[in-house]
Amino acid sequence: MPGIINKKQLEYLTSLKAPSDPLIREMEEFAAQKRIPILNSASIDFLENIVLIKRPANILEIGTAIAYSSIRIARLLTGNATIDTIEKSKDNINLANEYIKRSKLGSRINLLKGDAFTIMPALDKKYDLIFLDADKQDYEKLFHLSLIILKKGGLLFVDNLLWYGYAASKSVPKSFKKSTIYIREFNQMFINYPDIHASIFPIGDGIGIGVKR
Ligand SMILES: C[S@@+](CC[C@H](N)C(=O)[O-])C[C@H]1O[C@@H](n2cnc3c(N)ncnc32)[C@H](O)[C@@H]1O
Repeated sequence: MPGIINKKQLEYLTSLKAPSDPLIREMEEFAAQKRIPILNSASIDFLENIVLIKRPANILEIGTAIAYSSIRIARLLTGNATIDTIEKSKDNINLANEYIKRSKLGSRINLLKGDAFTIMPALDKKYDLIFLDADKQDYEKLFHLSLIILKKGGLLFVDNLLWYGYAASKSVPKSFKKSTIYIREFNQMFINYPDIHASIFPIGDGIGIGVKR
């Protein structure tokens, strides 16, 4: 018997969605062309739903890239809600600035330029939602930095916890071996961490949700 989710089922579900706006489509095409990793369609859908349900006032993203997810989130914000987003790559900062300008959402998106390891300890705000999407070898340290500035009841959203399927696979290509070990170690720690209620969902590339107790 086929499982619920296979390629056909995913294609069917994706085909039901109304096409996204031209800027979003352009960003998706640009990212694909330049091989810049951004949240895939199932994961960004999931994140958007969380934003709509939780209505966070203060959001932090660790890993902006071209500001695709920042813009998708910012489009849904109301009232005084804003997103701070951290990026260390100069090239990506320039691209993100350009796209944020074109999105006309500059008043909602605060691009913090530099390394999250320096920026996060200096932040004096507490967040309702933190989206961790940086280099995989840094996940564990960034997780601990995130917990310090996440409000009680706040939600941590972590991408790539199935790591292209390799986290659960016996055969891992050489170029993915190290990163797969980092992700496996992170998953063990994340799912058993006493200060959060954590779950990992088989959505997109594996999404971790941790709610701070
Ligand atoms: C997967 S991409 C982010 C994609 C973006 N969240 C989206 O879905 O549209 C990861 C980004 O994190 C940035 N990054 C990785 N480690 C970082 C760190 N320690 N501080 C700041 N940025 C970091 C990388 O330069 C890269 O642009």
